[in-house]
Amino acid sequence: MCGIFGYIGERKNAGSIVIRGLKNLEYRGYDSWGIAMRLLDGSMRMAKDIGKIGAVDDKDFAQPCSLAIAHSRWATHGGVTRDNAHPHFSCDGRIAVVHNGIIENFEELRSELESKGHTFASQTDTEIIPHLVEELLKQKGMTLAEAVRSACKRFMGRFAILVLDRQLMSLVAARTGSPLIVGVGDGECFIASDIPAFLEYTRTVEYLDDGEMVTVEGGKIRFQNIQTGEEREKRLVTIDWTVADTGKGEYEHYMLKEIMDQKETIQRAVHQDDEHILQVAKSIETCLGCILSACGTAGKVCMAADYFFSVVAKRHVNFVTASEFPIYHHFLKPESLIIVVSQSGETADVLEAMKVAKQSGSKVLAIVNTEGSSIARAADYTLLINAGPERAVASTKAATGQMAVLLLIAHAVAGKLNAGRTLLLETGGLINDMLNPRYIEHIEGIAKKICKHDNMYIIGKGWNYPMALESAIKIQEVSYIHAEGFAAGELKHGPIALIEEGTPCVALLGNDEFTSDILSNIMELKARGALIIAVSPVRHTAFDLWIKVPDAASAQPIVNIIPIQILAYLLAVLRGKDPDMPRNLAKSVTVK
Ligand code: G6P
Repeated sequence: MCGIFGYIGERKNAGSIVIRGLKNLEYRGYDSWGIAMRLLDGSMRMAKDIGKIGAVDDKDFAQPCSLAIAHSRWATHGGVTRDNAHPHFSCDGRIAVVHNGIIENFEELRSELESKGHTFASQTDTEIIPHLVEELLKQKGMTLAEAVRSACKRFMGRFAILVLDRQLMSLVAARTGSPLIVGVGDGECFIASDIPAFLEYTRTVEYLDDGEMVTVEGGKIRFQNIQTGEEREKRLVTIDWTVADTGKGEYEHYMLKEIMDQKETIQRAVHQDDEHILQVAKSIETCLGCILSACGTAGKVCMAADYFFSVVAKRHVNFVTASEFPIYHHFLKPESLIIVVSQSGETADVLEAMKVAKQSGSKVLAIVNTEGSSIARAADYTLLINAGPERAVASTKAATGQMAVLLLIAHAVAGKLNAGRTLLLETGGLINDMLNPRYIEHIEGIAKKICKHDNMYIIGKGWNYPMALESAIKIQEVSYIHAEGFAAGELKHGPIALIEEGTPCVALLGNDEFTSDILSNIMELKARGALIIAVSPVRHTAFDLWIKVPDAASAQPIVNIIPIQILAYLLAVLRGKDPDMPRNLAKSVTVK
């Protein structure tokens, strides 16, 4: 939520750099944007507006400048207005701040600052930061870094901030909860919420840990603990993502590009160290209770993994939505194993679940896509899904990569690691064959038939049930059609009342023991006038429209979700919506 990006260095086009870089973080929030530049003549230039940063021309910010901060917002406190857009400033206009997160005690701090004569221009929690820093700087001998450190010690909640002082050629940043990464170049430094902001300039990074701050001044980078002020040594890490990985390639939208990336990402996901997977499998076998936890699409993946562990490994594993996880703390023991799944590695509710698990002494395995992310670094063990950067808000290749890793682990628990790997590699090949232009055209024909409908229902049984839920999320979030997923057997307990003549109903099938049951459910829907769109390896007469998928045994949910991703994408495009940036959403949800 919210993208922040700052530059300090020897280049003279800091304004253009931060605007361009921020466009690569737009998936984090896109309701308004803003920039503060310390120009080479020592004056400050500020610009902000509502709307997407994507529409802003970086050439408009080409004035000579070597220090700038910028922000792309996903509103929490205060509506989407120009005044509420970041940066926010101190009364004297000297201090500019951009912020990601929520300062929970901002009302109390605001009253305190107002009583000292500060006036506020917005309804945001963020605005207290520049005012508090301004107030602290009044103390004799106070440096900017010390003022920021003292201010941070008073904040409750989660934050990542960048602070710029018009009078200084220095950049100060601090984080607690929300992510912040330092990109290190030659005589220059980039500080951003996420790596794609600066990948064009450097692949060398230093990670800011929770409760740390960094000051960049005179070519030096100084890391400190916020509470104690103690200096911290950091290790330089080289990122293996490239600029090409973060682009759209030949595609019009990131979502389509990422769907097509699945030609390769299943194979990349199973590219894991055998020893490591066997160790994880052993931990699952020996732990006293294993719980999967995640949010959104990653949560639906975990529900599918419940079935993988049950069917393939005969092992009971529970899924708990991360936002509900703290309620289950009574059941956690030091011998419990918690498996968290996250594309971004930054989801606040997942981090909170991990905190609760750690308080009980439980071990945490994280399955993530983003190396060095907060979740990866806070976990006891980490597995990467190797999907490459995912930029579209709707998760596609990360979801199938996560399922591939979990299915591989389930096979390892069953003592069949090699068979699991072979199945997944073959599945990757089948997906590669499936994702051809004719296949997409066929789904487009179906999308055209149903794109004007307001409601859609999706059913599945067994491991296709969580995929029905995931299908509904995909369709809702990008096309805004009201879509709901059900366990096929639940239809007659309520949802069937919603079926009218022509209502599009998608059924997800495999070539498995659930087929005869779900065929009966399809007949029940058909008898009430539903238009049956089936995703299935085998054709049945009950289908009105058929999307053929390969027969993939236990990897069927991985295969079945792909045509639905394509359908959701095409529905969005046909309805004139932007599939990459759906309204009200953000890709990385760093607030609770
Ligand atoms: C947001 C995104 C979803 C994602 C969920 C969990 O809601 O829009 O696509 O599934 O967060 O994110 P994570 O990064 O933890 O997988």
